[in-house]
Amino acid sequence: MALGGIIVAGLLVALLFYQAIHSLYLVYFHPLASYPGPGLARFTNYWRLRSFLKGNQHLVDLGLHARYGKFVRDGPNSLLVSDLDAFKSIYGFTGKLNKGDFYAVTSNGTPEHPNLFAARTEAQHRAVRKRLAPTAFAPKHLAQYEASVADNVFTFSESLKQLVKAYGHMLNIAPICERLVFDALIEATYGSSMSLLPEQDPAGIIQSKKKGFPVTFGISHIPWLSRLVSLPSISPFLRRPKYDKHGSPKGLSAAGVWTRKIMADAANGEAHLNPCILKNLLEIAPSDNRRMRLEAIRYECFSSTAAALIAVLYEIGRHPEWQSRLRSDLERLPPTEYLSTVHLSQSESLQAVMKESLRLHPPFVGPFERVIVPQQEDTVANVKPLPAGTRIWSSLFVMCRSEQVFGDKINEFRPERWMEREPDMLKGMDDMFCVFGRGSRRCIGQDLAWMTLQKTVAAVVRTWDLQCGEEALKGKAHLEMEYDELRVTLAPIA
Ligand code: HEM
Repeated sequence: MALGGIIVAGLLVALLFYQAIHSLYLVYFHPLASYPGPGLARFTNYWRLRSFLKGNQHLVDLGLHARYGKFVRDGPNSLLVSDLDAFKSIYGFTGKLNKGDFYAVTSNGTPEHPNLFAARTEAQHRAVRKRLAPTAFAPKHLAQYEASVADNVFTFSESLKQLVKAYGHMLNIAPICERLVFDALIEATYGSSMSLLPEQDPAGIIQSKKKGFPVTFGISHIPWLSRLVSLPSISPFLRRPKYDKHGSPKGLSAAGVWTRKIMADAANGEAHLNPCILKNLLEIAPSDNRRMRLEAIRYECFSSTAAALIAVLYEIGRHPEWQSRLRSDLERLPPTEYLSTVHLSQSESLQAVMKESLRLHPPFVGPFERVIVPQQEDTVANVKPLPAGTRIWSSLFVMCRSEQVFGDKINEFRPERWMEREPDMLKGMDDMFCVFGRGSRRCIGQDLAWMTLQKTVAAVVRTWDLQCGEEALKGKAHLEMEYDELRVTLAPIA
């Protein structure tokens, strides 16, 4: 054999030897070795990628817990947890764990200036959140955004009437819900609208978001790839704006180009903005260290808010008894031009219906990764100490189906569970209503999303009798639910 052949053969043997030793380590000696889980998960994260790409990871996670219990080794270095105390210590207020490589792809290629969602360490996170929350998300700010949300909901209601006129009473309302939420959140964020309602999305922004999500978060499941594509030398290339053959930005690039222009014009004082997050951030003087970088603003959560709206309308469509109850509840509220958030939040049945719908269909199914850091090896309750670097997470979809917290008939739509329980139990349910995350990393946009949702649901219920069957809702989960279809019959209220 030639020398070259001998070297290659030697390298191959060394590689096989290493793999054999490494596999023995993973199976018998790794700190997670004693936890049950799928055989393949001991060796690779790729098996998870497969279920992720199929769009049914939430169901796979539910199945994993049903088969293996509350602690499942779902990757070589990763533990999936559904134990309540463990969950609370992972997603708590003390911020003892970091976010890991899973979030690298959402960092906009600027790890030194991460946006709020992608900030990895508690210190980085606190620095951003303590400036953003009081400047743009406090209740007084939400009250400022309410008029534009109400305007968008009004346009939505009118658009729905036009669609019924044009296409008849049986409609797929998922796309119009997505366009409403996009318009409403863009306007609340940037003070101006891209006006996708009623049927205009020529650049294909929403479809491009749907196509992009599986890729972005698919990559997140492979930590080395996530790190690679997030390198400052590679990320800007991958994120460069895409143009169609006429030179117009297409897909999400169209939204990116539009928002960058708004931000630049606003920073130069050349744009008139309605009350919005951007305007509030710009009111902090550039010399003030509370002033945020404008790139910290993101509009991405429109698809989760749209998924939430679609899920609530689906459950309402399937439950006429709750629809009537909502309607009569809403009739009792003061007759204002548009129903205010303050009044809507007094409707016990509306709150219960929305919570129960999202409990059954959390827009973000998760799991959201956390990583053990040095000195916090024993921080997760009911788990023996784990070495720094271990990945640990919980599926929000699974946690929202905890019988221990939410009681029996857990797979059924029973809004009354939010109305009839003892105060102590209700407190526990509210604490574990983790649809918007939990603890220090809880969603900062929750109240804005809730405002948009309740206004839209109220507008629909007051105008239409909505009906749909069990099969009406079609979609997939790629960390976040994306619904392509909610087919309903709409009859005007007499
Ligand atoms: C129904 C709609 C929404 C749902 C279900 C939702 C859900 C979530 C969840 C589960 C998290 C925690 C993620 C994690 O632990 O890594 C989160 C974080 C976040 N969300 Fe939302 N979200 C929604 C709407 C919004 C809106 C409208 C905005 C912005 C206007 C927004 C902005 C954010 C930000 C910035 C974070 C990171 C917060 C932090 O780390 O401090 N979300 N969201």
